Amino acid sequence: MSNEINLTKSYEISNSEFKNLSQLVYDQVGIHLAEQKKMLVKTRLSKRLRELNFSTFNQYYQFLKNDQTGEELILFINAISTNVTSFFREPSQWDFLEKEIKEKEASGQRKLRIWSSACSSGQEPYTIAIFLYSLLKNPQEWDIKILATDISEDILKQAMRAQYSLKDVTGIPKNMLNKFFNKVNMETKTGVKEAYEIKSVLRNLVLFRSFNLVYGNYKGIPKRFDMIFCRNVMIYFDNETKEKVVNNLTSKIIKNGLFFIGHSESLINMKDNKLKLVKPSIYRVPK
Ligand SMILES: C[S@@+](CC[C@H](N)C(=O)[O-])C[C@H]1O[C@@H](n2cnc3c(N)ncnc32)[C@H](O)[C@@H]1O
Repeated sequence: MSNEINLTKSYEISNSEFKNLSQLVYDQVGIHLAEQKKMLVKTRLSKRLRELNFSTFNQYYQFLKNDQTGEELILFINAISTNVTSFFREPSQWDFLEKEIKEKEASGQRKLRIWSSACSSGQEPYTIAIFLYSLLKNPQEWDIKILATDISEDILKQAMRAQYSLKDVTGIPKNMLNKFFNKVNMETKTGVKEAYEIKSVLRNLVLFRSFNLVYGNYKGIPKRFDMIFCRNVMIYFDNETKEKVVNNLTSKIIKNGLFFIGHSESLINMKDNKLKLVKPSIYRVPK
């Protein structure tokens, strides 16, 4: 009976509790939680408070603040941010890239360094790999490395597993599915389900690492990328944070290289933006 009460327990979040939590998440990861996100925090975090057997958001805040492992912060970010992603997201960007890659191939280039900087469960870096292996005449002759990073260790584990449900792969043409995926049985919470696993030839191109775009150590990353994808993550950042992240990332792109953002994002308000807009959501680093 006590369990039942606990499971249905609902919580209220006061303005000061919300303010404390948003300040903490801003200080730690640069995510700006606007006042309108109060309900979202309340609904998404209530389950966690129940699990921890807390009665108030203030108790949770104290717990989060004192957690030296950083694990609770990641759970918190996972709860409030969205990991929504898909294969071949933002189709016009792939259309644009097709021409760009063909030109590189024709010019004799055989090396590519790409960074998928908020890679979520892996669909973005694997799309890059599938796209290149479908387009290039002799992809095996190329030296291709895709760095795929995300702040969330949990989502990176999923990405490394490289297994996707039937729903996840809808929209991928059948010939691509046969060529680049193996049919496997995937363990899920509700039992074993049929799934599609990315073949190792493509998995081997991708290196997964955890990296916080706001407070990560950019000094440790060489300036060598032909292109960086930073899509659908800056929606969480305020202008100042966004500017810092864009400057840090684009300082790692070689001259004439490309920077991709999400379609619903914009760099319009950025001061001293030296990037050239090529098409909506696609920028080029000047020569
Ligand atoms: C909506 S997904 C976008 C995935 C993919 N880029 C796409 O466009 O389909 C946003 C991802 O950003 C990650 N993220 C949020 N804040 C981050 C930060 N400060 N540093 C790195 N990754 C972050 C989240 O964990 C999540 O996986």
